[in-house]
Amino acid sequence: MSAAHRKTSAPVLFKQGMRALIGAVNVIAVPDVDGEPGGLTATAVTSLSADPPSLLVCINTNSSIAPVLTLNKAFSVNVLAHGQEDVAGAFGGQKNVRGKARFSYGTWTRSDHDIPLLIGARVNFECAVEDLHTFATHLMVIGRVVEVYISPLPLKPLLYGDGHYLTTG
Ligand SMILES: Cc1cc2nc3c(=O)[nH]c(=O)nc-3n(C[C@H](O)[C@H](O)[C@H](O)COP(=O)(O)O)c2cc1C
Repeated sequence: MSAAHRKTSAPVLFKQGMRALIGAVNVIAVPDVDGEPGGLTATAVTSLSADPPSLLVCINTNSSIAPVLTLNKAFSVNVLAHGQEDVAGAFGGQKNVRGKARFSYGTWTRSDHDIPLLIGARVNFECAVEDLHTFATHLMVIGRVVEVYISPLPLKPLLYGDGHYLTTG
């Protein structure tokens, strides 16, 4: 292995290394608690099983929606399209807006179960919380997918890597 490929588990190098992992940008949204919906930007989203349809989302336990996920048992995963960087920024804490005010970025509707869904996303997954596990700083949320809304438009993805928003060529 060359010197350019350092082998270490040190947290700083871990974070630097993770910058090389290009990920799709998503907003995880939760229904109202005390009259306000909530949400945050997350790249830690992956498919888990096709039968039953399920996915895994990793959420910081200090985030505003972590207690809501434990309480409310429902959420949406909104897979962002290129051009929705402002939505990613607002829900990612980069615009100094919190709670309900984040939903003034992008156009939002509600599912039949009152879960916020982002219009113009590549796809919206509506999920029921099936299981929760805590590891270190993060809550691993297993969501059973109850509805899928796929955009009919050929939208490019919004990706994040090397500290920047990106898309495909
Ligand atoms: C591109 C990007 C990806 C992120 N991915 C995650 C993630 O996977 N999980 C997570 O808990 N926070 C993630 N964050 C951080 C949260 O979006 C951010 O801390 C947010 O402000 C938390 O919401 P809160 O302030 O309401 O708690 C990400 C932020 C950005 C900009």
